Amino acid sequence: MKLEGKTALVTGAARGIGRGIAEVFAEQGADVAINDIDITGGAADDVVRWIRSRGRRSMAVQADVSDRNGVESMFEKVWKELGHVDILVNNAGIETIIPFLEITDEQWTRVTDVDLRAPWLCSQVFCRRVIAEGRKANIVNIGSIQAAKILPGRTHYAPAKLAIEALTRNTSAEMTPLGIRVNCVHPGFIATDMTSWIQKDPDILSSVVAQISVGRAGEPRDIGKVAAFFASDESDYVTGQSIHVDGGWIFK
Ligand code: NAI
Repeated sequence: MKLEGKTALVTGAARGIGRGIAEVFAEQGADVAINDIDITGGAADDVVRWIRSRGRRSMAVQADVSDRNGVESMFEKVWKELGHVDILVNNAGIETIIPFLEITDEQWTRVTDVDLRAPWLCSQVFCRRVIAEGRKANIVNIGSIQAAKILPGRTHYAPAKLAIEALTRNTSAEMTPLGIRVNCVHPGFIATDMTSWIQKDPDILSSVVAQISVGRAGEPRDIGKVAAFFASDESDYVTGQSIHVDGGWIFK
């Protein structure tokens, strides 16, 4: 068990990739806090129940990760209920598809707030706490294949996701000497609600899968397994790195 005795907070974990990461972490021995922007619908509680049924501790915590007060109070609640947090996974994200000439200021700002400023904000609040306690920790950022691949209608989303690489390496350079490693996973095409429009259209689905060397869509757990490696001591000489977990999509 790679994460025995560790406590993790995964943002945007009520469903999709965040849930997959939380499940793999729990199977690897971690207690896991489940953040989402809305935890009233039952999805976050379902993940919490799943983790508890595996013998690990868990809790759901509501916060918009782009809101500083919300983020401060999220960490406060988790620290209080589960004790110190060892691993932060900045997974929460939104994607909209809007032609470049039509994007409004509000649309640009919301995507970059959630996809770029929020990982920076959560990391800052987390690192301040960890450093004040004199502990070691780990951050895993979730980027996107779109850090390296052009898909139409993403002139707001793709720059935010490419910037996650710079956020990862720059945060790593400042925080690793203080005991906090920082790495990034760029998912390819993963079967979640975010990509349900691809999964539902047989023509689009087959044209995307044809570009993937492994020959299938990824599952949330495919990302969870690599995130668990980054979060564990098995990668203790790895920091500032970004890796594409995409079944070979960008290289085919
Ligand atoms: P999803 O839409 O299925 O799940 C995202 C979760 O984040 C939802 O539960 C949502 O409520 C939550 N969330 C959204 N905004 C939030 C906020 N401001 N504060 C807290 N929670 C918030 O998406 P999916 O597919 O699981 O994506 C997870 C991450 O992976 C995102 O960062 C996404 O950009 C990235 N990604 C996904 C890919 C895919 O193929 N599914 C490909 C590349 C990257």
